[in-house]
Amino acid sequence: MDRNMRTVEDILRLLDDLFAPEADRWTAANGGPWWDGFYADRSRAIPFFVAKPDENLASYLDRGLVTPGRALDLGCGPGRNALYLASQGFQVDAVDLSPAAIAWAEDRSRDSAAATAVRFRCGDALTLTTTELTGPYDLICDSGCFHHLPPHRRISYLDLLDRVLAPGGYLALTCFASGAMGSELPDADFYREARLHGGLAYTPESLRWIFSGLMEVELRRMRDEPPESPLFGEPFLWTALFKRKTETETGTSARTGTL
Ligand SMILES: C[S@@+](CC[C@H](N)C(=O)[O-])C[C@H]1O[C@@H](n2cnc3c(N)ncnc32)[C@H](O)[C@@H]1O
Repeated sequence: MDRNMRTVEDILRLLDDLFAPEADRWTAANGGPWWDGFYADRSRAIPFFVAKPDENLASYLDRGLVTPGRALDLGCGPGRNALYLASQGFQVDAVDLSPAAIAWAEDRSRDSAAATAVRFRCGDALTLTTTELTGPYDLICDSGCFHHLPPHRRISYLDLLDRVLAPGGYLALTCFASGAMGSELPDADFYREARLHGGLAYTPESLRWIFSGLMEVELRRMRDEPPESPLFGEPFLWTALFKRKTETETGTSARTGTL
């Protein structure tokens, strides 16, 4: 007899397993090998293969909205934003499921003066932040990882923020914009079809609702950056900067599940 359902994590794993293995881009077991194949040829014309930081991230620093501290890059891929943050004075932890992505990021970091300020880790961000990458982080950035999570893993994602984002810290999020990129299916249909169709589209309202425990600083479309720009920018993405309230702003302890 199989009686193995006791915790929320048991249910989240059950929901993970409803998806076809080849549709899974978020677990170490299935998503890691999938992304390894994606990164195998570094010369492919994939927009985010360029070694340039997100234009919105650079603009947060340029405008003084975010200042150097400890940063965590979730789903860092070949490390372009992590290396940029390190070059700007952050101490960076960067995590990705794919060994090929981490190998590429480490190759890039060997050519970077800021290499000592960044630590790349291979594994699942949702679990590594329970053991090793515990922060607290002043900035968590996520460019293109969140929209590959199935709906139920938003619970794990919010838990991650609750665990490791410092009070007063920032989440810089870049994700597919509805009407421009990603699947518009309602959440429940992804389970009926057992697929995520390449990633989920989000509206500004859905992002505000999901991250309603945080304060919105800015939410806008990413600027389209021309090829000669030193920055990465694609208009099919939302960029959002959210701030976690300080303990004074919440009037309670920010580490007791207030997100
Ligand atoms: C679209 S890519 C973006 C890569 C990088 N942020 C960039 O913009 O260059 C999404 C990345 O998220 C990573 N990823 C997906 N789920 C993850 C998880 N649970 N933990 C860590 N990385 C994850 C994938 O391996 C992939 O490299």
